[in-house]
Amino acid sequence: MESVLTINHLSKHYGKIKAVNDLSFSVPKQSVFGILGPNGSGKTTTLGMVLGVINSTSGDYKWFSETPKASLRRKIGAILEAPIFYPYLSAVDNLLIVAKIKQADEKNIEQVLKTVGLYERRNYAFSTYSLGMKQRLAIAAALIADPEVLILDEPTNGLDPQGIADIRNLILDIAKQGKTIVLASHLLDEVEKVCNHMVVMKTGQLLYEGKVADLLGNQNSFEVKAENIQKLEEVAKNWNVIHKIDKLNHSLILACNNDITGTNLNKYFYEQGIILSQIQPHHNSLEKKFLELLNN
Ligand SMILES: Nc1ncnc2c1ncn2[C@@H]1O[C@H](COP(=O)(O)OP(=O)(O)O)[C@@H](O)[C@H]1O
Ligand SMILES: [Mg+2]
Repeated sequence: MESVLTINHLSKHYGKIKAVNDLSFSVPKQSVFGILGPNGSGKTTTLGMVLGVINSTSGDYKWFSETPKASLRRKIGAILEAPIFYPYLSAVDNLLIVAKIKQADEKNIEQVLKTVGLYERRNYAFSTYSLGMKQRLAIAAALIADPEVLILDEPTNGLDPQGIADIRNLILDIAKQGKTIVLASHLLDEVEKVCNHMVVMKTGQLLYEGKVADLLGNQNSFEVKAENIQKLEEVAKNWNVIHKIDKLNHSLILACNNDITGTNLNKYFYEQGIILSQIQPHHNSLEKKFLELLNN
């Protein structure tokens, strides 16, 4: 597995505060990689170090398997803090300035405006944009030099539900173009919806690194209900394809062998004299796993 970024024992200490402490992980090429952790867990500090705007206390990192140098920085687009645009200038004019600074081809402006869905509004002044549009313009600016990697820190902070959905869809669209995305967020929901790989951080340290799906577990579980829940449980206990039963208030979660389907369950319980009033696939929530990780 090729990685675009590898972090080795990276630390940043501010006096006694260990903002990042002996952190190591790598970001696979073309992944949508989440850095998930509560506020103050060291996400922004980590991104600041790998972008070369914060000096590390110790440790190192490599971009594209190379020691960081200015020429590699051009392959990375980032939004670390709310970027500054000129309020009275249009999206196009703001991006012309950004393109000049980044020595990017002005011809890219049209394409990035289309990517972020601002092409129709390209000639309106920045000051007339909603918060969501401003954030999309920031992403356009980060994409202007056609980077291989896009780094986003809390990209949906402060946005309304529609704005949040727009940004998440945009991230997935950009990922489809083959770019690697690194996204720091304190929102589980965001990482679960958008990312395929992730690390979980707490107080500067790594708690988990791996695929989002692996943390969630892809076990074959069903939530079932019946009028007589005791009887349902007894019958379930006696069927060897069910290897774990969890009781909720008015239902059971049955972890089953992989080849068992809802139809199998329905038929079996019916034959044992039980009519299921509900049967649905059950997924572990990332929230539960996340809280388990944080509380260990
Ligand atoms: N310049 C700084 N001086 C002192 N402490 C800092 C500084 N920057 C960040 N910190 C501390 O480092 C920790 C990690 O912060 P940060 O990386 O911003 O976390 P996150 O982005 O996950 O919310 C926090 O405890 C924060 O208060
Ligand atoms: Mg932060």
